[in-house]
Amino acid sequence: AADMPILPGAHTHVLTYRGKVLNGPQTALKELPGYLGPILNFERGQKVRIYFRNQLPEPCITHWHGMHVPQVMDGHPMYAIDQGEQYIYEFEVDNPAGTNWYHAHTHELTATQVYQGLGGLITVTDEAERRLELPSGEYDLPLIIQDRSFTQGNQLRYMLGMHQRMQGFWGDTILLNGQKDNVIPVKTRAYRLRILNASNARIYKLGWNDGTPLTAIGTDGGLLPRPETFPYIMLAPAERVELWVDFSDRKVGSDLTLHSLPYQIPTSHMGGMGGRGRMGMMDQAGQHEALSIATFRIAERTSDSPKLPDRLIPMQRWTASHVTQPDKTVPIAIGMRHMSFQLNGRTFEMENYQEIEKIPVNSLQRIRIFHESGMRMGRMGGGMRGGGMGMMMSQPHPIHIHGQQFQIVSRTQTNSQSSAYNTIKDGFINNGWKDTVLVWLGEEIEIIKPFQDHVGLFLYHCHNLEHEDMGMMRNFWVG
Ligand code: C2O
Ligand code: CU
Ligand code: CU
Repeated sequence: AADMPILPGAHTHVLTYRGKVLNGPQTALKELPGYLGPILNFERGQKVRIYFRNQLPEPCITHWHGMHVPQVMDGHPMYAIDQGEQYIYEFEVDNPAGTNWYHAHTHELTATQVYQGLGGLITVTDEAERRLELPSGEYDLPLIIQDRSFTQGNQLRYMLGMHQRMQGFWGDTILLNGQKDNVIPVKTRAYRLRILNASNARIYKLGWNDGTPLTAIGTDGGLLPRPETFPYIMLAPAERVELWVDFSDRKVGSDLTLHSLPYQIPTSHMGGMGGRGRMGMMDQAGQHEALSIATFRIAERTSDSPKLPDRLIPMQRWTASHVTQPDKTVPIAIGMRHMSFQLNGRTFEMENYQEIEKIPVNSLQRIRIFHESGMRMGRMGGGMRGGGMGMMMSQPHPIHIHGQQFQIVSRTQTNSQSSAYNTIKDGFINNGWKDTVLVWLGEEIEIIKPFQDHVGLFLYHCHNLEHEDMGMMRNFWVG
């Protein structure tokens, strides 16, 4: 715990990771000025040992989000340690170059611990990436986005009312890399931006303020096969996107701002009891105004800019013919019961080895993520009947699966009536390696995911941290 300056005036009480390199290159760890943990810089193939000590008066455990590690190194909540205890992580870095992160993953405390500051970035580098000569060093910028709310006395404000149970906690103040100041001086050349949404629940619709398309070069699991441009990019909690931005033609003294643009999430209620339920639009949630995420101020001329490669890292696309059990699809059904979101009709159980989905180790699986319909919910949830409730309870859910990165095979909108969908639909990157996929209202998503090397319990859950802590999480048994 620490008190740090975030807003002008009183310091804010936060939780924070602090570290040092005991052995190895000092560049393995880079402190950021704000409350966030240091950036951990890993090299593919490297063996790392991390001594995690809990100095908080509550249990805690750390998860290496996006990293392919054995069960006991994965920060499962069953391994939480108490104050004064130590957990030693040891693993070999097996991920390709990219941007991952780490955060607290404590049973029912993930949302509050991450909210108070327990998160940080991980970068992985490798030979294939170095050959691309992407912008590096001071031209490779982390942009960790979080939303927070503050009291009059500058303390973090957090509430968990009915509204937050449904939508998750959205703060009213955007922080960048743990700080309020978001102006970044840059030179007239290309930069690599590693963007992480480390917010509890807020979904960003990233776009440049002058309408310039965004050039994506990487997703959760590393670099894309080739750069792709988007009018805007939806970035849900835990998702990463890497952008290429070139300031070469910009005037010294001018600004370019990365915004989160307005968009809509339809929320609806049932207009009457019983029967099929009449739906009525209650509200347009989402985001009503553009928010400033980062302002790049062109401060200096230079002419040493690298060129955007047209090919990055090759990727073999998987299809149904590659999966191990072609006639089997693993379901991840999103539903709700007793005002809590669930997966596959259940809420989280720490260790229930009986009623969990079993997946053969070293297999490639097709997984279908979908919203339970009202009828199915009635059967599985016991007591929710009719077509209305499913819609009423709809929320976008960023579904995260621990372990190896997956590929998105298809994204289908089953309920296209929504004009709100048009405000977000062009912002999904479906071509890269992913560990978290935003499942919008009415969407059904098919993915193909490998389960190699490690046997044991691996989590899948909603990365809306309020949903996760309320039990929207399950284990896979890989064995
Ligand atoms: Cu980033 Cu299981 O979480
Ligand atoms: Cu994870
Ligand atoms: Cu959710």
